[in-house]
Amino acid sequence: MGKFILGVLIGFVIVACVGLGYFYFGYAPAATAAPPMPLEKRAAKWALSARIKKEMPNGTSMAASETNLLAGAEMYKRDCAVCHGLPGEAKPSNIAAGMYPKPPQLWKHGVTDDPVGETYWKVANGIRMTGMPAFKANTSDEAVWQVSLLLANADKLPASVTAALQQPISAAPANPVSAPSTTHMPGTK
Ligand code: HEC
Repeated sequence: MGKFILGVLIGFVIVACVGLGYFYFGYAPAATAAPPMPLEKRAAKWALSARIKKEMPNGTSMAASETNLLAGAEMYKRDCAVCHGLPGEAKPSNIAAGMYPKPPQLWKHGVTDDPVGETYWKVANGIRMTGMPAFKANTSDEAVWQVSLLLANADKLPASVTAALQQPISAAPANPVSAPSTTHMPGTK
């Protein structure tokens, strides 16, 4: 019995050493272009979906009105388009193309099938170790819902909203950098 337990212990130590060695000796992928680690994708997906199931809100009382969708489109252009693309865009930006995991191009493979509460959770909280930022710390809850409604309705947007997505960003940035002072320095003209 003692020998058996010793065997099990030695087995554990060997497995732990191989695991540590995988990281310590540089076998684990580190560059964005490297192939995923064994089970990496599956483990990340399980963790994410289990967490979202626990925490996502069950829908919203906010209407997918034109006003809310237009506000969502402005936020989208400013904070999301660089990674997730715009309608009709031929290829991902250089930023998106260089990332791992790659940000889905949301106007080709959208999230219209996902409950809006799930998209809200992802935008509010971000997705750890993927480059998907969390927006709840610096964006109003209302704006997070508006952009989530935009994506949930991406396949049936009013023409005005699709048009707005094609226009340059119109809203002033949330925290405008103050314009250079025009006051004269003493002693100058
Ligand atoms: C710096 C790049 C970047 C920016 C900016 C960004 N995202 Fe993401 N986003 C990602 C990446 C990468 C993923 C994929 C994460 C994964 O593989 O799990 C992602 C995933 C998502 C998903 C899940 C997609 C799916 O198929 O399940 C949604 C929804 C999303 N982002 C919405 C947004 C919104 C809305 C914004 C702007 C408010 C935004 N993202 C800004 C990189 C970004």
